[in-house]
Amino acid sequence: MTDLTSGIDLSALSSKLRQDDRDFRRTFALGQLADGERRLLPLSDGPADDGDLRARLVALIEAKTGIDASQGGGSGDRLNRLLATLPAASLPSWVLALDAEPIESPSWEALISSLTVQETYFFRDPDQLRFLRREVLAPLIAAQQKERIARLSCWCAGCATGEEAYSLAILIVEALREAGEADLRPDGSIVIHPRWRISVLGTDIDPMALRHARTGCYLDFAMGPFRSLPSAFSGYFEPTTDDARQPGRPSHRQVHPDIRALCHFLPFNLAHHEPPVLDADTVLCRNVLIYLSDRVRSHAQGLFHRALNQSGHLALGPTDTVKVPSLFLPLWGPDTVLYRKR
Ligand SMILES: C[S@@+](CC[C@H](N)C(=O)[O-])C[C@H]1O[C@@H](n2cnc3c(N)ncnc32)[C@H](O)[C@@H]1O
Repeated sequence: MTDLTSGIDLSALSSKLRQDDRDFRRTFALGQLADGERRLLPLSDGPADDGDLRARLVALIEAKTGIDASQGGGSGDRLNRLLATLPAASLPSWVLALDAEPIESPSWEALISSLTVQETYFFRDPDQLRFLRREVLAPLIAAQQKERIARLSCWCAGCATGEEAYSLAILIVEALREAGEADLRPDGSIVIHPRWRISVLGTDIDPMALRHARTGCYLDFAMGPFRSLPSAFSGYFEPTTDDARQPGRPSHRQVHPDIRALCHFLPFNLAHHEPPVLDADTVLCRNVLIYLSDRVRSHAQGLFHRALNQSGHLALGPTDTVKVPSLFLPLWGPDTVLYRKR
């Protein structure tokens, strides 16, 4: 796909960067900017020095996606590598074209896909997940066990390729089993009492990551997505049919179909104005905010507050802090913390 204004082949470029770094996986944003944010940058066709152009691009990326590419590390390094591979003469018109294009355009999709960091794995930060199960999921289940209709709704914001959303669904099923509300049948199926309406929504700015998430299928390799999977939960995964037909090839494991049925995945940009879900019991947004600007970090926490119901809980990454203390109350556990909506 060649951008006609600048002559830059973004797809080829994006593919090259992906080869350079396996973490490079890609993106797309649903988000829309407020009218006031649309034209933050006084772009012109005139010549610009490299630093000036980079600064404009960084501001444009922040305004449209909330991603902070201003510093070294993470998205900043990725942007530098991207700029180093682009023909210098085309850069001004490319930036100009990006400013005019909507965030859903292929150019933005390819750019964002080159900037995002997709590192994730099943049962990341197990202390926090154990605490979530004990302090949030188990009491929620106990409180609704006698109801005719019982609901559990969770949102994983910035779920990347889906491992976190599926981990949460497995935790929910485990908590339901403990409460006598779900059963693993000898034929391998998971049967949940029909009173339960369970939904785990995984969202990300990266549509390519979400396409992967929907397959529920993951390559099994050392330090790969299964590195932290408790062995007791290996029954929630199945070897894929392809692997059975091709013994000796690197194997994949697919999330059990009954767990996949509890999860769905949608594109969502945390710079967007409205949350994709309301009345949620739990929001997880772990290891995402570190990549965003201060402005969008605070904004996103407002979104989580709106998405949660009155007694809802938020789980952030270990290096994240609550930006607006009036919104959330910390709930300390062993080596971890969750936040309760105030
Ligand atoms: C390091 S991964 C974290 C995955 C998972 N939450 C975990 O902790 O394992 C960061 C994710 O944030 C997503 N992301 C970055 N900026 C975003 C934005 N503005 N809106 C939504 N997702 C974003 C990236 O695409 C990436 O998938």
